Amino acid sequence: MSVDVYGAPDYGPIMPAVRITIAAHKGGVGKSATTAALAGALALTGHRVLAVDTDPQGALGALLGVPSPQPPGLYEVLTGGVPATAAVVRSSTPGLLLLPATRDLAAADLELPRRAGWRRALAAALATIPAGAADVILIDSPPGLGVLPVLALGAATHVAVVTELEHLSIRALPDALDTVRQVVTTAGGSPRLLGIVPNSVDLRTLHQRDAYGRLRELYEPWILPGLPARVSVKEAGLAGLPISLYDPHGDITVAVTALAQEVARRALVPDAPTPAQHE
Ligand SMILES: Nc1ncnc2c1ncn2[C@@H]1O[C@H](COP(=O)(O)OP(=O)(O)O)[C@@H](O)[C@H]1O
Ligand SMILES: [Mg+2]
Repeated sequence: MSVDVYGAPDYGPIMPAVRITIAAHKGGVGKSATTAALAGALALTGHRVLAVDTDPQGALGALLGVPSPQPPGLYEVLTGGVPATAAVVRSSTPGLLLLPATRDLAAADLELPRRAGWRRALAAALATIPAGAADVILIDSPPGLGVLPVLALGAATHVAVVTELEHLSIRALPDALDTVRQVVTTAGGSPRLLGIVPNSVDLRTLHQRDAYGRLRELYEPWILPGLPARVSVKEAGLAGLPISLYDPHGDITVAVTALAQEVARRALVPDAPTPAQHE
């Protein structure tokens, strides 16, 4: 089967910061958990990371130790002319900053589309982050294809897609990737597919082994190191700590570190090889 994936011969400029949007075609697959884990692992290996929460639920803030962010947050940045730097706060992890979502961000859904060029609003806001303040910006997205997910995709230089190893999800992936590309193109962006992250992996089940086999048939070169299903992911979230700090000796941290290394290799090294186009 021929799978149309998007890529380019290199992974693009390092300046300004690469902006990786963590997307998924479904809710509840672990976008926020993966964003928090990856942000923590990259920060703990010396990268300057800014995590951006575009979900009014504010899950990412809670996962990173900022459960009740006060305005200004992303809403004021997008609609009130507040500079992004004025809304950035420290997280529970050294080297990891957060641009938080407050509940009022939900109103951006109604307000922003009235403005010309709204699809680039987050891209424009993040472009004001001074070079050197962050090497990598990780953007957590709400589910669906409403205004906020479109903003998150429109601001990306790279997109990482999270999926569960579940047949129905994998069957929907080609369409989902295509939709992401269309949304991004409409927003005037041209991000690269960084890869697909299998999450909540438990290869003891036949269904998941089967689904993983199918994923490999379709997207082998694009598959990033996956994250196992572990209760410690939930515990770390409740504690407001990235998993690498919460469970430094767990196998989940080994997996997250491998994911972070591969993401850094693909996104942050200018001439890293692109996965071969898969025919
Ligand atoms: N690898 C994992 N192991 C165990 N639980 C996980 C894992 N990834 C996510 N979860 C849990 O699954 C739920 C949904 O994850 P979340 O990151 O909020 O999904 P999304 O952002 O895609 O809606 C949360 O309760 C989270 O703690
Ligand atoms: Mg989420």
